[in-house]
Amino acid sequence: MSYTDYSIRSFHGGYDKNLTYLVTCMRTANQFLVDAAVPLDSVSRFINHRGLITLFITHTHPDHIAYIDEYVEAFPNLVTIVYKDSDKKINCNYIKQVKDGDIISVGQLSVEILHTPGHYPDSICYLLDEVLFTGDTLFVGRTGRTVGKSSNVRKLYKSVYEKIFSLPSKTIIYPGHDYGPRTSISLEENIAISPLLNAKDEEDFIEKMKHYEKHRTPGS
Ligand SMILES: [Fe+2]
Repeated sequence: MSYTDYSIRSFHGGYDKNLTYLVTCMRTANQFLVDAAVPLDSVSRFINHRGLITLFITHTHPDHIAYIDEYVEAFPNLVTIVYKDSDKKINCNYIKQVKDGDIISVGQLSVEILHTPGHYPDSICYLLDEVLFTGDTLFVGRTGRTVGKSSNVRKLYKSVYEKIFSLPSKTIIYPGHDYGPRTSISLEENIAISPLLNAKDEEDFIEKMKHYEKHRTPGS
């Protein structure tokens, strides 16, 4: 594998301890954003002369696209990336619908699309070298929840255990919310600290999710 040179800056805020990420290709200065969960105001001083060219949406729950209008207005050529079967109306000038396995280039960076339904049908994780932007599919310390009416706990199991866990264990996740003891973590460290990531099989995962929902404290 050849590695590229980039920087990642994280921004906390939004509706519920959301995280938005600004990624810069150090060779071309091109930049992309993962989610639009915080106002442009908090990100704008880190956007360089080349401007934002791509906005990757991890899923279309309202908190993750809350400030999209501000970004589209400031960067009219911004291309928004969303899953192909998403039925949400996204307000932007350019939209690119993607599917599992697609590669999107930003400058010299290549971002691979992993479709990871479960928390929500149009959930996508974005892989950049050994960094995985996980949205609400996987947090530090646990998986995303499956209590919404479009959620599916069996699909989440497959997305997490079969798709994400097949990546190298050193892969570092950058989630969509800051719910854990730290902001990002490697897959192997995350598995070591989380009962929800230690299920024996699909049925055991469903039981563990039920147990989690019964005992969870709001905001955790
Ligand atoms: Fe969500």
